[in-house]
Amino acid sequence: ETLDVRGLHVLPGAIDCHVHFRDPGYPHKEDFGTGTAAAAYGGVTTVFDMPNTIPPVGTKEVLAEKHKLAGEAAHVDYGLYGLLGEDTIANVPDLIAGGVIGFKLYMGNTFGKIPSPTTGAMLEAFEVVAPTGKRISLHAETNSIMERRETRLRDFGRIDPLAHLAARPAVVAVEAVSRAAILSEWTGARIHILHISSAAELRPLREAKARGVEITGETCPQYLFLSADDYAEQAGRIRVNPPVREKHNQEPLWAAIADGTIDLIATDHAPHSTEEKTRKDIWTVDCGFPGVETQMPMMLSEVKAGRMSICDYVRLSAFNPARVWGLYPRKGSLTPGSDADIAVVDLDHEWTIEDDKLHSRSKTTPWNGRKTTGLPVHTLVRGRFVMKDRKLIADARGWGQSVHSIQTMPVPSPKNTDQTMVAILQEPKT
Ligand code: DOR
Ligand code: ZN
Ligand code: ZN
Repeated sequence: ETLDVRGLHVLPGAIDCHVHFRDPGYPHKEDFGTGTAAAAYGGVTTVFDMPNTIPPVGTKEVLAEKHKLAGEAAHVDYGLYGLLGEDTIANVPDLIAGGVIGFKLYMGNTFGKIPSPTTGAMLEAFEVVAPTGKRISLHAETNSIMERRETRLRDFGRIDPLAHLAARPAVVAVEAVSRAAILSEWTGARIHILHISSAAELRPLREAKARGVEITGETCPQYLFLSADDYAEQAGRIRVNPPVREKHNQEPLWAAIADGTIDLIATDHAPHSTEEKTRKDIWTVDCGFPGVETQMPMMLSEVKAGRMSICDYVRLSAFNPARVWGLYPRKGSLTPGSDADIAVVDLDHEWTIEDDKLHSRSKTTPWNGRKTTGLPVHTLVRGRFVMKDRKLIADARGWGQSVHSIQTMPVPSPKNTDQTMVAILQEPKT
C-alpha cells in the first residue's frame, strides 16, 4: 500500500499532556473511546489523562482499573496521571509501580472537588517524589485566596459573567507558581506548571528557571486566543479554571512561547454536556471545554499566518512534551528509533470548526464557527493508521498503549531535601 503525500507535511504527532477523558465516572461527558477518537482527528498521537475521575486515581487499584478501560478503548497512546494529594503521599511507590506517567497536584479546587493539600503536605509530597525523578504537574491556583474572594462575590449577588473574572485576580496563580517553585528548588522535585493564563505568572516562572529550578510550563489555546472581551458573547462556554483573562495578557503569553519561558502547548481538554455549559447562573456552569481535536488546526493557522515556524510548532506540540516526560526519541520525533507517531497535515486546507462535527462527546466549544488553515489528513500511531483521509479507522480502537514503560527519567540530584523526612515517609509498611 502506498500513500501519496505530495504537497503535505509529515510531522511528529502531537503529545497533549493535559486532557480529561472522564473515564470512569462521567460517561455522558467523555470516555477513552470518544476522547481518543477526537485526538486521532486532531493529529494527537499521545495524551496524558488527568486523575480527577471517579474515584480519583490515588491508589494502585483505581489506577489498574483505569489502565484496563484505557487499554480497551484508546485509539492513541496515553499516559495516566496519579493524584498527589494529602491522603495519597504514601501511595507514591505503588502508583509508580502501577505505571503512572507523572503526578498531578491540585493547589486549587476545580472540577471534581479534589481537596488541595496544605503547604506542609506539599513539601512532604515533593520530598517523596523528588528521588523518583517523576514530574509533578500543578494546577497552580491558591485555593485559600480563590475561595475567599469568590464566596464574598457570590454572597453579594454578583453573578454576571464578568464577576467570575473579577473574582479571580492573577495573584491567585502567581502566589501558587511562586510557592511551587520554592518547594521545587528546596526539594529538587521536577515540576510542571499547567495552564499558564496570565502575564504575571511568567515572572516567577522565568526567575525560577534562571535559578536552575527543574520547572517547565504550558499554556493552552484558550489563553492565547480568548480574552475577557469574549465573555459577553460566550458567557459560560468560556468558563474555565484558570479563567480567561484580560486581553493584555495575550501578547506576553505568545512572547513566552517564542522565547522558551513556556515550554509547550497542551489543551486542558475538559468536556462537559451542553446543559452543563449553558446554565443561566454562571456560577453553576461546569468549567472547561474540549480542545484535543482543534489545537493543531488552530496553531497551524498561526504558522500559516507567520506567527511561528512549523519547527516552532513541533517543538511546542511534540518535541518538548516528549523531552519533559522522558519519552524522547520514541515519542515527539521522527528520527531513527522513533515510534513513528505521525500527523500528516495539509497546511493549506481551510476548515471551519463546527461543534456538532467534532468527535468529543461534548459539543460545546468556544471555537464553533472559527475558520482555520491547516488540518491533519492522516494520523499514525506506532506506524499504524488510526485516522486516514479524515476518517477514523474503526478497528484502531484498543491500539493505544500506555507510554509509562518507555519513560526514562534520570533522577535529579538531591537539593535541600530533609533526608530524614524522606526516609520516614518511604519506610516500607509492615
Ligand atoms: O476548567 C477546568 N476544567 N479546569 C480544571 O482545572 C479542571 C477541568 C475539568 O476537569 O473539568
Ligand atoms: Zn487544572
Ligand atoms: Zn485540567
